[in-house]
Amino acid sequence: MTDTLTPVLTDNWDQERSWTLTAYEDRGGYGALKKALGMEPDAIIEAVKESGLRGRGGAGFPTGMKWGFIPQDNPRPKYLVVNADESEPGTCKDIPLMMANPHVLVEGVAISSFAIRAHHAFIYIRGEVLHVIRRVQAAVDEAYRAGHLGKNIHGSGFDLDVVVHAGAGAYICGEETALLEGLEGRRGQPRLRPPFPAVAGLYASPTVINNVESIASVPSIVEHGAHWFASMGTEKSKGFGIFSLSGHVTNPGQFEAPLGITLRELIDLAGGMREGHELKFWTPGGSSTPLLTAEHLDVPLDFEGVGEAGSMLGTRALQIFDETTCVVRAVLRWTEFYKHESCGKCTPCREGTWWLVQTMAALERGEGKESDLELLLDQCDNIFGRSFCALADGAVAPIASSIEFFRDEYLAHLSHGGCPFDPAASAVFPSTTGATAGASR
Ligand SMILES: Cc1cc2nc3c(=O)[nH]c(=O)nc-3n(C[C@H](O)[C@H](O)[C@H](O)COP(=O)(O)O)c2cc1C
Ligand code: SF4
Repeated sequence: MTDTLTPVLTDNWDQERSWTLTAYEDRGGYGALKKALGMEPDAIIEAVKESGLRGRGGAGFPTGMKWGFIPQDNPRPKYLVVNADESEPGTCKDIPLMMANPHVLVEGVAISSFAIRAHHAFIYIRGEVLHVIRRVQAAVDEAYRAGHLGKNIHGSGFDLDVVVHAGAGAYICGEETALLEGLEGRRGQPRLRPPFPAVAGLYASPTVINNVESIASVPSIVEHGAHWFASMGTEKSKGFGIFSLSGHVTNPGQFEAPLGITLRELIDLAGGMREGHELKFWTPGGSSTPLLTAEHLDVPLDFEGVGEAGSMLGTRALQIFDETTCVVRAVLRWTEFYKHESCGKCTPCREGTWWLVQTMAALERGEGKESDLELLLDQCDNIFGRSFCALADGAVAPIASSIEFFRDEYLAHLSHGGCPFDPAASAVFPSTTGATAGASR
């Protein structure tokens, strides 16, 4: 069993009523805010730059650099927006973080706002997770009463108001510019860039948008220093992150570890694959990242390592599937999600995701011919890089990678006239992992 966990954001999750202000302050909570208020805002930005923190929302853009793009000579108000939409299949780290430790986010919001000179911050949470909205709102209320938010915070002269905003429940509203549209009361569709949000974001004013985990990492950087943070992780992917293991492992859950840990180590921490089964495929960062297989168990889970393996680190949403899963069916299910969530603004995605579902569904039913796989890849090619935002690229990722690794399984659907994993189907076929797929799912 490996011993590489680095609990920082998850450190208090098993504490009694860990979400309350008392529990958070008992462990030194809001100490970093007091320290930050005694610093120059630019020194905080510098510390975040030096720490090497990269956005935890998927793309991995350096957080301190993003803050540095805010034009301080712009007379308009500056805004901080926390992206807590978390709607991608498999991604499930921000919600448990906000439930168990909402004050680390609120403290991060206060410090980050002070650094970028924002006096208004917004936490945009997807509307369906009412329990999370209530929990974060309660933490914000407690923080106001304790003087951590509001006017003249701790006598520093710094004022900050925080609004917890409930989204209407759309995956596209996690895309930062669609989120801003939604926040302004319009239909959630991505905006044309430039201008980038740092220059003209919320209400056409300079705006920083960061993921929950990115902002929640800031108090520990202020408290322990940039070098402490940078001492963890790998050369270009510094620090720690929450890795969410779901699916066919013995103990699914959240594992906070340095970037660069491998899936082999994480599965070990999760008690192994469920008994008697073996790994078939997995997603490194949610359903929008290309699938990987058992060949990739030792890939370092950092931005560079996963990129070199042909996928993306994304949100570290590790969905684990064993040999009982039909990859065609799993990918079809994700494709249906992307078709449903396409906002309709651009044609390649609006029409293309509909066609992807038609082609995938026919293949899953065992209808069609081998050349339909080329048709499917051609459809992917006409969508990838040709759409307005990254939602469509994400829709294509699991399809193209599943054909790359599991072409035989697609073909088996055609030769069996249906899903070979269906209990009614008599035959079995060899999977690409070398295991024999049986009649279960
Ligand atoms: C379709 C789509 C959905 C997204 N959903 C989220 C989300 O739920 N949370 C998030 O932080 N970023 C999401 N992103 C990425 C954001 O656009 C943005 O890159 C991120 O919030 C920046 O924060 P970071 O720099 O701290 O990672 C999404 C992007 C796309 C294209
Ligand atoms: S790619 Fe899809 S989600 Fe993005 S703007 Fe186009 S239609 Fe909307």
